[in-house]
Amino acid sequence: MSKDPDLTGPDLHAGYRSLVRRPGVHAVEVIDQRRLPHETVTLTLADAGAAAAAIRDMTIRGAPLIGAVGAYGLAMALDHDPGDASLAAAHAMLDKTRPTAVNLRWALDRVRAAVRALPVSVRAHAAWREADAIVAEDIAINQAIGVHGLGLLRELAAARELAATRGRAATRVDAVAPARPLNVMTHCNAGALATCGFGTATAPLFLAQSEGLPLHVWVSETRPRLQGANLTAWELAQHGIAHAVFVDSAAGLLMRRGEVDLVLVGADRVAANGDVCNKIGTYDKALAAADNDVPFYVALPSPTFDGSLGSGDMIAIEARAASEVLEVTGRGSDDTTAGATVTVGIAPAGTRAVNFAFDVTPARLVTGYITERGIAKGAGALAALFGRSGGEERGEASGTQRGRGT
Ligand code: MRU
Repeated sequence: MSKDPDLTGPDLHAGYRSLVRRPGVHAVEVIDQRRLPHETVTLTLADAGAAAAAIRDMTIRGAPLIGAVGAYGLAMALDHDPGDASLAAAHAMLDKTRPTAVNLRWALDRVRAAVRALPVSVRAHAAWREADAIVAEDIAINQAIGVHGLGLLRELAAARELAATRGRAATRVDAVAPARPLNVMTHCNAGALATCGFGTATAPLFLAQSEGLPLHVWVSETRPRLQGANLTAWELAQHGIAHAVFVDSAAGLLMRRGEVDLVLVGADRVAANGDVCNKIGTYDKALAAADNDVPFYVALPSPTFDGSLGSGDMIAIEARAASEVLEVTGRGSDDTTAGATVTVGIAPAGTRAVNFAFDVTPARLVTGYITERGIAKGAGALAALFGRSGGEERGEASGTQRGRGT
């Protein structure tokens, strides 16, 4: 039997990796993302139950990473019991941890398809190899999205430079004044922490920074779980990229003031018609972008495209606990709480709250999709890149949950 690939290196990031599977070890190491940015703590997931819990409680999160950890969780279950009943039970248990990101179902189906025709004696090994392949492909996808997105950033920077030069000439302002950096707004965390590689929306940013393109990133705090303020700001700091966090509700103002050149977000599931399901608050940004002529791009890896769904209205939207809205958790800074993690209530006792974790941005508001196969402008171009039948192309009927869900 061939040797397990080494997916531990080289170090693709600024010293952190969301997931590490050491050669021959039937467990994975993940960063506990609930403790960032205050502490970088690594946990080992060694059985399917632990993998499921890590996805459910958002120890790990982000569509591609959820898929990878789900795939490894299935391999762990088969280590324990490779029989048909175990395979079905573990698939079902992992699948129901989080409903919205299609990558989880896609990865579980892929591992199941790779092993179920095999003798039980070799199923676990085959499952580990398939999960490793999913991780290796995600790393390559991130890299390719980064390269295509970098081309877009260069174009926007050049166009803005040209406009600024004309403006300076017209107003006779000192022509040697440096142009301001390219201002990119992002939402949630579609970074290395959300994937196995460089991230999706962040990959072009990391490449742009490394080639010296002047850049500034507006980071949406991303209530209620603060993935922007906690995770994206942390990642940008690790890479030395200039950034500022803003309250979610300031996105429209920033765009109206001309402070944003590009909105660039990730995705959890994209329907055949190009509708984009992503973290709650994405839709509002797309509306504001359209109203202010700001280009709105979605970084979209192929496993996140769900061609089996005709529109975004068919995507199940995860509803999470009201406590995530009614409480805020952070690191204390006064004399009594300094250094301690504190959770405080922010509404009167007994207040009800609604907590939809995702929303759907209609395709008409999306300027383009940055995929590993190139940039698609419009749903037609996306279908040409990915094919209209993404579900069948995955090798199995996806059985996607339908209806809005609550
Ligand atoms: O609830 P989360 O933190 O898992 O949501 C993550 C997002 O919405 C990301 O933007 C999306 O998964 C893209 S990650 C490359």
